[in-house]
Amino acid sequence: MTIFEYHDATKHHYHRSARSLGYMDWTNQPEPFRHYEGRSPISLPLLEDDPDGGYPDLYLRNKNPEKPFGLKNVAGFLELSLGLSAWKGVPGSRWSLRINPSSGNLHPSEAHLILPSIKGLDSGVYHYNSFLHTIEPRAILSPDLWDKIMRHFHTPGFLIGISSIFWRESWKYGERAFRYCNHDAGHALACLSFSANLFGWKVIYLNALSDDDIRTVLGFDKAQWPHMEEEHPDFLCYVFQFSQMPASRNLSEAILKDFAELDFFGTPNTLSPDHFNWEMIDLAGRRTKKPKTESFELSLKNTPPFFTETIPDLTASRIIRQRRSATGFDPNGFITQEQFIAMLDKTLPRMNIAPFDVELSPACVHLLLFVHNVEGLKKGLYFFFRNEEDQDIIRSLTQVDFLWQTVREGFPLYFLQAGNFRKVAARVSCYQEIAGDSIFSLGMIAKFRDPIESHPYNYRNLFWETGMIGQVLYLEAESHGLRGTGIGCFFDDAVHDILGLSDNRFQSLYHFTVGKHIEDRRIKTLPPYYHIERKRQN
Ligand SMILES: Cc1cc2nc3c(=O)[nH]c(=O)nc-3n(C[C@H](O)[C@H](O)[C@H](O)COP(=O)(O)O)c2cc1C
Repeated sequence: MTIFEYHDATKHHYHRSARSLGYMDWTNQPEPFRHYEGRSPISLPLLEDDPDGGYPDLYLRNKNPEKPFGLKNVAGFLELSLGLSAWKGVPGSRWSLRINPSSGNLHPSEAHLILPSIKGLDSGVYHYNSFLHTIEPRAILSPDLWDKIMRHFHTPGFLIGISSIFWRESWKYGERAFRYCNHDAGHALACLSFSANLFGWKVIYLNALSDDDIRTVLGFDKAQWPHMEEEHPDFLCYVFQFSQMPASRNLSEAILKDFAELDFFGTPNTLSPDHFNWEMIDLAGRRTKKPKTESFELSLKNTPPFFTETIPDLTASRIIRQRRSATGFDPNGFITQEQFIAMLDKTLPRMNIAPFDVELSPACVHLLLFVHNVEGLKKGLYFFFRNEEDQDIIRSLTQVDFLWQTVREGFPLYFLQAGNFRKVAARVSCYQEIAGDSIFSLGMIAKFRDPIESHPYNYRNLFWETGMIGQVLYLEAESHGLRGTGIGCFFDDAVHDILGLSDNRFQSLYHFTVGKHIEDRRIKTLPPYYHIERKRQN
């Protein structure tokens, strides 16, 4: 099976969904939190005061003071990227939400850190437990190894890696779950980049490493994984103070060798009593395994942002904390053209602007927009290019009668076709009303065949890129008093038919919707860490 075959087999069609159990196997529902048993975890302090950067400081890096890499700040960085955001409950049921969203709230992404020695804390490899806001020691690094890492990067900082537990998603979504794990990893990457920004730090993707290198560094090859609950490496990043760019996007062979010789401890907990083995997911993982590659630096554009609209005077951390997925929209919601353009503009990669300056890969994903209610814009279909070089090919591959009218001089948004697309948008998003009742919804159209044919691991990168765009849109929606929702369930080829795409040079990989949300007042909310604050106080 090639990764193209995986992709085709996991498309939803109007009359046939991608293979899954088709019912909820509640007895085997995976535990939402992983922990490593064996060594005493280290409790992280919760933020007493959030960083005071305003919402624009989330993108523009110049105002956030550079903080030292103390435990308090590392803890704050984790709390505002991958920590809990709230508990929700109805009589008889309670569930937690996190700063990072996840398909079905199943959270396949896990985080591991490689930290320097910080006041009483050994330099080592740690797993982040977001439920208890603790880090669990998994290996101790010698001062010599940490020195080597510092000399390698030429600037102080620490490493953070994200991995995926496929079973968490495949339990519910079957074979399509590999896609969702990668969306979630992309959301997590954007969360790390935004949160780092608030501490005056920056996150950079170490693009030369192979998946096996990451497995070595995180000790995955030595872990005693419970059956089918292995963590698969996604990426490793370096976190550093913004003004001091590291000298490398790689780890030297000498450093990798030292990690290979470390003793790792801690046993990963078992998540489910039994599993359904979706073999296609493991195959997809194997087909997209990343080898070592040449290290590269992306030269992102330095064009000034179009951020002209006024946004409420809210702190960045407040927006990060209040982010939620909408479950219903008031179809009367609207925004101005100015707001719409500012929102799209934030999804463009630019030098020194989060989150795309993590330098994952050149932009490959564009937006097909269903505009339902934007003041000053005709209702209808629009296309937003996130890179210039795909413009001609996309125009040549799509419907001949599209208008391609410029909306605003110098801004890569084009009007294609007038019409009320509310029903169409909902229908292609698996009949989900949130895609039709919103202000706008969209499909993320990725350059697909060529990047994957040359490097199959790009399949995962493309999904990460879509997750990052989704995270920007989530925060943008909140900052405008609106709400967004990522949409992983859509009828792939039905979207391609709207555009007129007839082959796999471009594919729709993820949907998103933004609107005026309707709160479900039956659901009660509790603070994110009320359960441990009480325990720590006693
Ligand atoms: C990749 C991805 C796909 C999602 N797909 C859908 C979807 O198809 N329909 C939906 O209503 N919500 C969808 N969601 C929203 C999740 O259900 C939501 O993130 C999760 O329940 C956690 O809630 P929160 O976002 O409010 O923290 C998706 C989220 C992500 C990240």
